[in-house]
Amino acid sequence: MIFPGGHFLGVEDCSRQEWRRLLQLAGALKRREARLSAPGVPRVLGLLFSKPSTRTRVSFAVAMARLGGQTLDLPPGSTQVGRGEPIADTARVLSGYVDALAVRTFAQEDLEAYAQVSTVPVINALSDVEHPCQMIADFLTLQECFSRLDGLTMAYIGDGNNMAHSLLLAAALLGVHLRVATPRGYEPDPDVVQRAQRLSQGRCTVTVLHDPVEACRGAQAVYTDVWSSMGQEEAAQQRRHDFAGYCLNGNLLAQAARDAIVLHCLPAHRGEEISSEVLEGPASRVFLQAENRLYGQQALLALLLDLV
Ligand code: CP
Ligand code: NVA
Repeated sequence: MIFPGGHFLGVEDCSRQEWRRLLQLAGALKRREARLSAPGVPRVLGLLFSKPSTRTRVSFAVAMARLGGQTLDLPPGSTQVGRGEPIADTARVLSGYVDALAVRTFAQEDLEAYAQVSTVPVINALSDVEHPCQMIADFLTLQECFSRLDGLTMAYIGDGNNMAHSLLLAAALLGVHLRVATPRGYEPDPDVVQRAQRLSQGRCTVTVLHDPVEACRGAQAVYTDVWSSMGQEEAAQQRRHDFAGYCLNGNLLAQAARDAIVLHCLPAHRGEEISSEVLEGPASRVFLQAENRLYGQQALLALLLDLV
């Protein structure tokens, strides 16, 4: 159990019970059923983002405002960490000023370096390996659409990236069957797949395959993400070639269940990983999912900062 006061560097930092609590609180906050208490001095969340962000940055800022606190933008280019001050020194100093740190970075090891010496919670706001904050919104959306999670089947079509990793781990913890379909050579990290299979404890199946049609067949949710993540821009042309046939379009969606929903963490590249028709179509819940980032962030901060 990480709450309160622990770190949130990946999906596994939270037990199954804590995930259920996060989702329940996020839903209650959305329906305005939960009351939070933020007594005393307003809390401050430091945002250390080395990559661009719309949803994560803004939902953290608004979530903190709603909790009676505020965020402080600390981009590496305007702090000493950008000039080589060690993460260990930066984390020790910042821990003395702020109440939590949200870090968006490349290497997962950087997050671990922050967490190792930080005396306040460190949150993974996306790394090359995981995007655990996104999972709160994604599974809240699934739960809202189907009134349950247990036994649902989700297909993820595309790159075996940070999103695929977090989905594998979160689906396994929450009892959702997940089929990940990637081109050969773009599979998720086998260690993450093994961890997800262990976490599922036989309650659901998490599988990695290469055929997007097989992955989508009968699924209640179909999820996709960009073919080139932040930092992979130079490989974009090669990837467009390698991912041909993995576009979530009407033909692929037709393989899914009749009431299937479409999810995407955004930003989307229409005509690449998803067709415009599907993104804007009746099955799309992408903008509901994006809105849910706010309630996910609020629930996470409330639990980490002990405001419930
Ligand atoms: N989905 C997501 O994390 O979006 P941003 O990169 O805009 O934060
Ligand atoms: N896989 C994408 C997700 C963006 C929210 C990236 O890392 O760029």
